[in-house]
Amino acid sequence: MHPGDVAPHGSAPAADVPGHLLTSGTWADVYALDDERVLRRYREGRDASPEVELLRHVRAHDFPAPDVLDAHGSDIVMNRLHGPTLLQALGAAEITLADAAQVLADLHHLLHDVPAPEGWGSATARDWPALAGGPVVVHLDLHPGNVVLTEHGPTLVDWANARAGHAELDVAVTALLVAEVAVDAGGDYSQAARALLAAFLHASQVSPRAAIDDAAGLRSVTPGLLAGERELVPRGAALVRSLLDLTGS
Ligand SMILES: Nc1ncnc2c1ncn2[C@@H]1O[C@H](COP(=O)(O)OP(=O)(O)OP(=O)(O)O)[C@@H](O)[C@H]1O
Ligand SMILES: [Mg+2]
Repeated sequence: MHPGDVAPHGSAPAADVPGHLLTSGTWADVYALDDERVLRRYREGRDASPEVELLRHVRAHDFPAPDVLDAHGSDIVMNRLHGPTLLQALGAAEITLADAAQVLADLHHLLHDVPAPEGWGSATARDWPALAGGPVVVHLDLHPGNVVLTEHGPTLVDWANARAGHAELDVAVTALLVAEVAVDAGGDYSQAARALLAAFLHASQVSPRAAIDDAAGLRSVTPGLLAGERELVPRGAALVRSLLDLTGS
């Protein structure tokens, strides 16, 4: 039995190994504490409190995201979601590309109905220009690996990049993330990603055109991106533009 298995609800997790490691992402480890709860912990000790505030805010607006049960420093205890990610469901052909594109477009549409929290809507001096605040909550990492298909519907995780912003930028970042996979010619999923991108642009209620340059600027300064991955950014942006030109949107 893991120490986390016996920790009462709402208590701080044990400092050593808190439970069964579910996944280890770029920045964070996600542990199962029990069947109901996970712990997401930044390995570098980054402060998770801004994303906790945004998570609580979007949940208060009924947006489908995990409930925060407890948070300290770089740890967030959330309710545990059960189900495959949208990426896993696509890989297993459990969902069509068109349905997956609709899931992404619907999550954007729902999220951009949530107003920015008080005090988050305006620019700060150190903000990247593309991130100079905005009227709604944006996630800025809304891709199939961050959507869990639960019995209650698609639920969005990984709120590390979320902030106040403009819907077009959020849609442009998703389009670009998918496009980068599409232009990676040797990649296993490049053909599927191109079809997913076309379907997503068709399903999206907001045209990302005005924000493609800003999205590319953001992506190219993403920490941890390898040189080869960085080269995909301008090519991905060009693909998004050409698909938008084809549809006249
Ligand atoms: N509340 C949750 N319940 C169940 N699984 C979760 C939950 N939150 C995250 N996960 C799982 O952990 C994975 C990684 O979580 P997350 O994306 O938040 O971490 P990350 O370090 O930013 O990962 P990456 O760098 O891969 O994006 C998710 O894809 C999902 O499968
Ligand atoms: Mg993630």
